Amino acid sequence: MKKPYYITTPIYYPSSNLHIGHCYCSVAADSIARFKKLQGYDVYFLTGTDEHGQKIERKAEEAGTTPKEYVDKIVAATKDLWKLMDVNYDGFIRTTDDYHVKAVQKIFKELYDRGDIYKGEYKGWYCTPCESFFTETQLKDGKCPDCGREVELTSEECYFFRLSKYQDRLTEYIEAHPEFIQPAFRAKEMINNFLKPGLEDLCVSRTSIKWGIPVDFDPDHVVYVWLDALTNYITKLGYTTENHELFDKFWPADVHMVAKDIMRFHAIIWPAMLMALDLPLPKHLAVHGWITFNGQKMSKSLGNVVDPFVLGKRYGADAIRYHILREMALGADSSFSNEIMINRINSDLANGFGNLVSRTVAMVEKYFGGTLPTEREGGEFDDDLIATATALKSSVDDFIDKTQLNNALAEIFKVVSRANKYIDETAPWVIAKDETKKARLATVLYNLLETIRITATLLSAFMPTTMPKALEQIGACEKCATYENADKFGVLPLDVTVKKGEALFPRIDVEKEIEELNAIIKNNEKVDEKTAKLKEEIEGVAQIGIDDFCKVDLRVAEIKACEPIKKAKKLLKLTIYDGVKERTVASGIAKFYTPDDLIGRKIILVSNLKPAKLCGVESCGMILAATCGEEIKVIFVDDMEPGSKIS
Ligand code: MSP
Repeated sequence: MKKPYYITTPIYYPSSNLHIGHCYCSVAADSIARFKKLQGYDVYFLTGTDEHGQKIERKAEEAGTTPKEYVDKIVAATKDLWKLMDVNYDGFIRTTDDYHVKAVQKIFKELYDRGDIYKGEYKGWYCTPCESFFTETQLKDGKCPDCGREVELTSEECYFFRLSKYQDRLTEYIEAHPEFIQPAFRAKEMINNFLKPGLEDLCVSRTSIKWGIPVDFDPDHVVYVWLDALTNYITKLGYTTENHELFDKFWPADVHMVAKDIMRFHAIIWPAMLMALDLPLPKHLAVHGWITFNGQKMSKSLGNVVDPFVLGKRYGADAIRYHILREMALGADSSFSNEIMINRINSDLANGFGNLVSRTVAMVEKYFGGTLPTEREGGEFDDDLIATATALKSSVDDFIDKTQLNNALAEIFKVVSRANKYIDETAPWVIAKDETKKARLATVLYNLLETIRITATLLSAFMPTTMPKALEQIGACEKCATYENADKFGVLPLDVTVKKGEALFPRIDVEKEIEELNAIIKNNEKVDEKTAKLKEEIEGVAQIGIDDFCKVDLRVAEIKACEPIKKAKKLLKLTIYDGVKERTVASGIAKFYTPDDLIGRKIILVSNLKPAKLCGVESCGMILAATCGEEIKVIFVDDMEPGSKIS
């Protein structure tokens, strides 16, 4: 039977502005999941969306919609991004899913019944963007210690979780299990910054917000969003339900991938909750740093986002996946720059791996018409190449188990470089000149094909679209390109046939590309500015009551005649039929419409506007039009009856 392996990402706040920083965790978890599948594990990879809480409630309010409608609309954007990035999850949880809501209510009740949740009153500070509570002393210069933003004073009746009770057990656990939090310095951070100073009980319900899971035995309260969110890792597996096969099989998780800003929740609150429920703790928390831009955490609000949809469509998911995984050392931040990314794509993927494949395949075609002869003759440099290539699998395995994906990739690319060097050392084009050395030439090319097979097999977890194409080009069948064969040499048939294909990673013109990307970024900034101006305009308009609106009588009317007004260049004189009678209206649209454009069209008329004289014309009403940039566009309603009331 296959061994189970369970890996998770955090569940993301639904957003249509996910950036390249958000991609790291999912792409890393996806690569590990794929690698473990390759190794023969029965893998479950879970991701999803965290849909409750004050932050969403406020955003929905701003958008003038209900929170559920709001999240329903944008959750697709998260899924679209994972599709684009080839993130192939086995489970996707939404915390608004019915089974999750019920399970959270049961867990809350269970903790209450066990005495680990009790009722009290909370007085303190709340950071809405982080959905976190803080005491006065935890604030940094009066602001949120995590994100530096404003906090709000909160005072309300709430339920508390007895976090303090677990302080000693947690400290002992973290100290006794150095593998629990990776990298190790993060475990020290948890102990020194949080556990040693002492844990306070945690407020786990709110009465001042409505958008959350109601506490079923006290419905004025909704469950604190982090308690709700953290349980996703077990509710999706059927914990608390009759269908708990997945839970029995996959819990405890092998790895929770999380970024450093949410480590505290995963290293302290979540394990304490699991202890309170008498459940085993996850085996590893792999805590990664941030992708930064000019030294700051990448975020939409900083206006420095590099859009993964733009990058993914330009270079392909594999190149982006490779770059972000290769750049970030677990634990440290990694600074993102388009230039570094493009140079890396060129050096490692186009010149390194891509070139190795295309040169090798081209030589097999040129010297042997695409199929190698079966005679072999060993020579200098072979042993070193073979030893390096066959040792690769075990070091990649190690690095994957330590979630050090940058090192796993570095190891693979060392072998790619070794193979490119082998081409220079053996100089097949020189051997080809000597008719008596056909067997030697075939051996050199075969060794290269074998090295490509091994590296492409191991890379297929990281670059799932391109590697199957590479394997196809070197003539490796599915059975050859398995994990089992990735530390063996001599797997491809001796008379293997290659198949030339497209360049796997086309070289990018760095200067031209940077110019184009900068233009896109500038344009985005312009769009942002425009939206900000619009927002100011819309929000600056005084509100009116429905009574005020009802005073305006809007009617469909038909333009029967139209002529310019001699004394006023901007005005047109319109004769309009309002369903009862004809009337005259002067309208400032002469620059945009000729009489022919208008006669016979139906428009919206403000019919009860007091008549006014405009350049000698008595204007009885006004027609509705929109200002679109420099243009004015009349609103036409041609399929409506004159006289129809608009309300
Ligand atoms: N909803 C919570 C997680 C709940 S898990 C029970 C949350 N969501 S998030 O959408 O804000 O972030 C999702 C993940 O992306 C988090 O691990 C977060 O730290 C990570 N990142 C957000 N910006 C990032 C970078 N710039 N770089 C790397 N990871 C980043 O937190």
